[in-house]
Amino acid sequence: EGYNYGMIGLGVMGRNLLYNIADNGFSVAGFDLDEEKVKQLHSDATSEMKIKGTVSLKEFVATLETPRKIILMVPAGKPVDAVINDISPLLNQGDIVIDAGNSYFKDTDRRIADMSSKGLHFMGIGVSGGEKGARTGPSIMPGGDSEAFHLIQPMLEAIAAKVDNQACTAYMGSGSAGNYVKMVHNGIEYAIMQLISEAYDLLKRGAKLNNNELYEVFRDWNSGEMNSFLIEITRDIFKQKDSLSDGDLLDKILDKAGAKGTGKWTSEQAMEIGVSIPTIDIAVTSRILSAYKEERIQASELYSEKEIASPEDKDLFIREVGDALYLATLISYAQGLALLIKASEEYNFGIPLKDVVKIWRGGCIIRSLLLEKFYTAYTANPELTNILLDKEISELVKSKVKSLRKTAAFAVSNGIPSLGLQTALGYFDAYTTKSLPVNMIQAQRDYFGAHTYQRIDREGVFHTSWQSTNQ
Ligand code: 6PG
Repeated sequence: EGYNYGMIGLGVMGRNLLYNIADNGFSVAGFDLDEEKVKQLHSDATSEMKIKGTVSLKEFVATLETPRKIILMVPAGKPVDAVINDISPLLNQGDIVIDAGNSYFKDTDRRIADMSSKGLHFMGIGVSGGEKGARTGPSIMPGGDSEAFHLIQPMLEAIAAKVDNQACTAYMGSGSAGNYVKMVHNGIEYAIMQLISEAYDLLKRGAKLNNNELYEVFRDWNSGEMNSFLIEITRDIFKQKDSLSDGDLLDKILDKAGAKGTGKWTSEQAMEIGVSIPTIDIAVTSRILSAYKEERIQASELYSEKEIASPEDKDLFIREVGDALYLATLISYAQGLALLIKASEEYNFGIPLKDVVKIWRGGCIIRSLLLEKFYTAYTANPELTNILLDKEISELVKSKVKSLRKTAAFAVSNGIPSLGLQTALGYFDAYTTKSLPVNMIQAQRDYFGAHTYQRIDREGVFHTSWQSTNQ
């Protein structure tokens, strides 16, 4: 009897996913070039798991039942191509290679085409939830060949997180849809993290809260409508003591944000297919700006420290920051989901938005109570082009918008950077404005470049010979 699944790449994510699959009664063979990782796979396993690790690719392939179902958990980019090159000659027609890393969707499309010319299936599946999620139940976003998907569906459903007894995994569409949905998930993740960091700054420097008080605020937020994984871990972060010195660890962490690229891809994609996602864009660029540490120090000296006023009513201020964060988060999801809708048309993915929000409710980094509301909205109206157009959501938005304005205004007038909050509000204001001032842009384009314009009162394309008023 061959092993049911194969796992290539036994780093933390690969190993945890392998254990999760084995816990659910499937036998799994693991491969890694690093002998240490193979040893560790065995030493950390439980006796019930039917697993086998090896450093020999040939042996690995030979131990698998056919059609082989091989999962790759290796860094995105060249390592994925290298593994595919090594393994393809050892496979037979109908075998399935499943890339579970954060691969760029266009790479997945190229690999699908290459592999299918050899009679092999290739799938890109998004896996979210970090190390712990991989071990105990991630959110899984599979896409690609539907025949191959059906072969692995029972395993995916078994290992995924559960919400209301339903697995947080569903077919995301054809081709590289799984990677695309995961990419946008990460773009939204960037936006929410940016917004939380701004709320933290406003409460710390505006309301002058210490880490203990911040812990309490986030604890309260997490136990109400703002409940989410990212709010929950933020709460915990405020409590973490430093092991290398006295005090709280958070205060010792250098303010330069890292990034591995998925957020940037989301922004590039949105530009490429013409979707407005400013809060995600600003989250990407804010991480870039954070890296200018030396310049920021120089500039802060040049422009001196800003005086920050204390809010008149501290408790009210905290509540408003919470509402502002909640609404700006909602707007970030709205932007990301709108990108998925356009991408689904553009690339013929056939992404079921209702299932996207359904499987994001558990296991993934952006899981939140808010997604329950989106799920209700998309269940009622699967054709919704923007979540802001939903009636129920609009009521919720209207109840928070004043707080977002007041919070953004406080930040602006006190010089506290709030790019995320401001762009969420700016997007909302532009999106809800019937007549934008871009009639002026069209007039200017026609004036200097004869780019033509349309009119509000008649059909057709117009050009005017604009008159200079120079004497
Ligand atoms: C997840 C995360 C995961 C990873 C991010 C980190 O859903 O589990 O999104 O995929 O932690 O890609 O991205 P950055 O390093 O770019 O912040």
